Amino acid sequence: MAADFATSLRDALGDDIIALGDAIDARFWHDWSGLPPVQPLALARPRSTEQVSAVLKLCHAAGVAVVPQGGLTGLAGGAQPVAGGVVLSLERMRGIEEIDPVMATMTVLAGTPLIDIQQAAEAADLFFALDLGARGSCAIGGNLATNAGGNRVIRYGMAREQVLGLEVVLPDGTVIRSLNKMLKNNAAYDLKQLFIGSEGTLGVITRAVLRLQARPTEFATAFCACADFPGVLALLQSTRAKLGPALSSFEVMWPSFYDFMTAGVPSLRRPFSVAHGAYVLIEASGFAGGNEAARLEACIANLLEQGLVQDAVVAASEQDVRDLWAVRESVTEYGRLMGPLTAFDVSLPTTAIGAAVERLEPELAARWPGVVALSYGHIGDSNLHLVIHVPSAGAHQPHDEICDLVYGVVRDAGGSISAEHGIGLLKKPYLGYSRSPAELALMATLKAAIDPGNILNPGKVLTRE
Ligand code: MLT
Ligand code: ZN
Repeated sequence: MAADFATSLRDALGDDIIALGDAIDARFWHDWSGLPPVQPLALARPRSTEQVSAVLKLCHAAGVAVVPQGGLTGLAGGAQPVAGGVVLSLERMRGIEEIDPVMATMTVLAGTPLIDIQQAAEAADLFFALDLGARGSCAIGGNLATNAGGNRVIRYGMAREQVLGLEVVLPDGTVIRSLNKMLKNNAAYDLKQLFIGSEGTLGVITRAVLRLQARPTEFATAFCACADFPGVLALLQSTRAKLGPALSSFEVMWPSFYDFMTAGVPSLRRPFSVAHGAYVLIEASGFAGGNEAARLEACIANLLEQGLVQDAVVAASEQDVRDLWAVRESVTEYGRLMGPLTAFDVSLPTTAIGAAVERLEPELAARWPGVVALSYGHIGDSNLHLVIHVPSAGAHQPHDEICDLVYGVVRDAGGSISAEHGIGLLKKPYLGYSRSPAELALMATLKAAIDPGNILNPGKVLTRE
């Protein structure tokens, strides 16, 4: 039956669009979650929205699962294939269709890599505010499907805030074309918000109208050392008050992260020669005459005098900027340095983050002697990342026990189990820690209404009864 369906799908769309069985490249068998690869029944690589619609219509009629895929950089397993299902890759639907300089919008296809969007905006003397480490590999469709966050949320908000319009294909193949460009549009329900952050469980995003910003021309970057977390909070309050909207990044690294990464990646330049309690990378961005660098330096000088900041390095060149960010972006290396790991993107009330790290790191070390637990994150956005590897466990990392421990702390602090990576498969068992039974029931109602056959990314995010 499954083989018959796969053959009929290929006959309908053609073998340029549909690959079957061993002809499916193994790169489509998994995302970056570390979950074991799954060979799909078929791979669809459509070139148009009409072809996406045709694939969904056929799968809907046959009750076959469809998993949308973008750049495959997701860390929660949302793009993992489903056995016996079709993988729908948007990689051929890439390209910038229009930049409207007056409306400050860009219309793109969902498979467009984030970096292409950033560069095209810059070439038009505009700015696309979403930015994250995987910018070279991730696709905008996946960024929107997961409501990605990244490095500039403190200034511009999450991916959701960068979207004005969407084209989406529903599970039955219906195309919802709502390529709105206007900043204000209150004509009843804002349906695009349903699809942003729903991880491909309600519809497949095929096009987006993105909101562009004025391109900042002045950047100031500083790497600060604090004695402890209260120092970090004082730095956050002070830079926010003095820089206002110019404060565009506030990234914190605990010694666990800073020491491990600077020791493991020889190309990294250590900003300080002595050890400190916490490290903060701050970016201010603005426009000519805004004096961001001077304001940032004055703010840091003041805190140095008060002893709240112990030391600071302010970038004096483009190379300095790259070197300072390289310490934070060395996250791309941790898989190579550690091997299998358990990674977190939790949110906690900002004031509770220091205590959570002070509790978690020793608890993890007591339970798994020799554990590597690295704490860092977008603390200006209340978002803590934690990456954990138990060397003695080798390939059999105690994922469930580690998750129970970390998510228990998050639940007790009233935090969120996912700040920016989504739920996918990995966090599904813990969704009830951050959402009430009434919220979960409404989510299930929406899923059943939009995807009654449960074909779109089934088993991800929510458990369908
Ligand atoms: C980051 O902030 O670097 C990303 O969310 C990725 C990660 O932490 O692994
Ligand atoms: Zn992050």
